[in-house]
Amino acid sequence: MVGMSTVWDPTQYAKFSDHRSRPFDDLLARVRATSPALVVDLGCGNGPLTLGLAQRWPDARIVGVDHSPEMLKAARELDVDGRVEWVEADVATWDVATLGAAPDVIVTNATLQWVPGHLDLVARWVSALAPGGWFAMQVPGNNDAPSHALMRESAANHPAKERLSPALNRLAVHDPARYVVELGAFGCEVDGWETTYQHVLDPAGEQDNPVLEWVRGTGLRPVLEALTDEAERAAFLADYDARLRAAYPRTPVGVILAFRRVFAVARRSDTAASPDAGAHVVGLHHVQVACPAGSEDALRAFYGDLVGLPEIPKPPALTARGGVWFRVGPHELHCGVEEGFAPARKAHPAIAVRDVDALAATLAARGGDITWDEAIPGTRRFHTADPVGNRVEFQQV
Ligand SMILES: C[S@@+](CC[C@H](N)C(=O)[O-])C[C@H]1O[C@@H](n2cnc3c(N)ncnc32)[C@H](O)[C@@H]1O
Repeated sequence: MVGMSTVWDPTQYAKFSDHRSRPFDDLLARVRATSPALVVDLGCGNGPLTLGLAQRWPDARIVGVDHSPEMLKAARELDVDGRVEWVEADVATWDVATLGAAPDVIVTNATLQWVPGHLDLVARWVSALAPGGWFAMQVPGNNDAPSHALMRESAANHPAKERLSPALNRLAVHDPARYVVELGAFGCEVDGWETTYQHVLDPAGEQDNPVLEWVRGTGLRPVLEALTDEAERAAFLADYDARLRAAYPRTPVGVILAFRRVFAVARRSDTAASPDAGAHVVGLHHVQVACPAGSEDALRAFYGDLVGLPEIPKPPALTARGGVWFRVGPHELHCGVEEGFAPARKAHPAIAVRDVDALAATLAARGGDITWDEAIPGTRRFHTADPVGNRVEFQQV
């Protein structure tokens, strides 16, 4: 997917650093951690804001994660005191366990709009927080703004429109209420809001088209990357430039760019991390398994009593079909009755847990077959079979 490109230009991105830092400051103002030991910035970019975290919490260990080598190079150059651990990784696959300790603060600013399925990741990160820990995120909510709508119009009028189409596929960013609900499912106190900033760009009148300069540093990158032919690129830019000028006229104070952003800050409860009573279960990678009629009690004993997943009552309209449902973090695992059932030996749900060794020991003590799989470096996981023979995986987070 083009939106996942790692090619960023730190110099272009830094052109509007004052404007870009404002939402970060507004976000962090709602994080009231006083002396966190471990702070993580996911999608840290070129570094100045991450270094601001180091200034705010001078005694904390600070980790910045980004998948762009260019952005990280700029960040390392800025970090003259070596204050931050800079990690090159895709946040979608980065494993919190590599930190070696539960983070007290996780911040992710202007990044998750590039990350497919970020709600699942958010669930994983919040679950991994230390008790009383903070999660803070900000994403742009400006997909319908003229800056982006006009980009789509210019692309639709361009001879290479077929090629440009994937570059314009923006990933889902949700309204604040959705983040509040998702984060609240972890028993967090959640604060969600949105703000439309009125950025006054280029008050001195030095730039030809400041809105174009702004989007070049972020949302326009995938389009320009797709247009490798100079003439094609120039044609696109000429059309888009003209549209932007009409939509964002210069005023006596500069060019005003209205920019909506969505925020959520969650504080995990002080007692949320008890390893007992099934609280080690923190996420779900897959959601559906089949089972034969009449196996519900055995499934309850396994997924419910042994693993610790709370059962969810099935909707009355579906109870006659049999089967049993469980909650896994913010998700659900549905065991659905299938006529002619045959156990799934390959396809499987993968359930993230806090203490995979303890769970393996419990299952083995009850006669379960445990198969450890070391194939993925840094990932501790095992497979077993549920009572109806379906493969199921448990993975450490
Ligand atoms: C708009 S910049 C924001 C940088 C910084 N957080 C800030 O507020 O200035 C987005 C950053 O997210 C990073 N990014 C996007 N997708 C990512 C992913 N899947 N994994 C890691 N970093 C990612 C980009 O490389 C880029 O540095």
